[in-house]
Amino acid sequence: MQIITTKEELCRTVRALKEQNKTIGLVPTMGALHEGHASLVRRCVSENDVAVVSVFVNPTQFNNKEDLEKYPRNINRDAELLSSLGAAFVFAPTPEEMYSAEEMAERFAFDFGGLDEVMEGKMRPGHFNGVVQVVSKLFRMVQPDKAYFGEKDYQQLAIIRRMTKVMHFDDIKIIGCPIVREASGLALSSRNERLSEAEKQTAVNISRVLRESLSYAKTHSVSDTEQWVIKSINAVSGLEVEYYEIVDRTTLMPVSDFSHAIGCVTVYCGPVRLIDNIKYPGTCD
Ligand code: PAF
Repeated sequence: MQIITTKEELCRTVRALKEQNKTIGLVPTMGALHEGHASLVRRCVSENDVAVVSVFVNPTQFNNKEDLEKYPRNINRDAELLSSLGAAFVFAPTPEEMYSAEEMAERFAFDFGGLDEVMEGKMRPGHFNGVVQVVSKLFRMVQPDKAYFGEKDYQQLAIIRRMTKVMHFDDIKIIGCPIVREASGLALSSRNERLSEAEKQTAVNISRVLRESLSYAKTHSVSDTEQWVIKSINAVSGLEVEYYEIVDRTTLMPVSDFSHAIGCVTVYCGPVRLIDNIKYPGTCD
């Protein structure tokens, strides 16, 4: 496995791969890799001639300086894991290599068609501009045939699908991959590293309540189910819901029935902000 740190070297490598007609898969990550990322990389390795994994803590998508500073970084451990999974290349640039000073200073403009006005977008202004900025750059540099994203960040996946369409990355297929969970049900996240063992036990209640809401939803309305989830999670000492919204899986707009619905939650467990989601079985499943 080769670690690439400059755009120039990446560009040379991609050109050579394209000349050899190799198919390229891309897994964009911010490092601190866990089994959730590993599942994306395994799939990428199995579906493409060459798997490229980017490891870049993207400063333009953080609207909280402390969150950016505290984001776990361990490139040596990440590289070891990626090598064992069969990735061919890791792209790990510095922020200065990735962005000009102007790009760092200005907010990247993109028409989200409303997808950024709900949930994470509402809570973290500018966050998705930074995500689109970095992912569109990676798409231009790596020119992948397929790009892999986890469904845990469901809103991000919906936005990347829109970006791919609007920016005409017509040759790139976006692959959404299911959430990977611990045996306890806790959704894997790099942020889990910041939870103590006791907080982890507490955080398990997030997925428990989401799962139980599937039964509750059978006999209650969308808005009653939203309120029930918020009340049930907040009843657990140490958890505080920021939002729980049941929305359409494509448009992320509020729904009045469960037929194409996903429930997305953000919960503070102590100082750590965790997200999770659950799809409600509807008529389209
Ligand atoms: O999901 C993430 O880890 C990041 O948002 C991504 C897609 C790698 C962009 O920085």
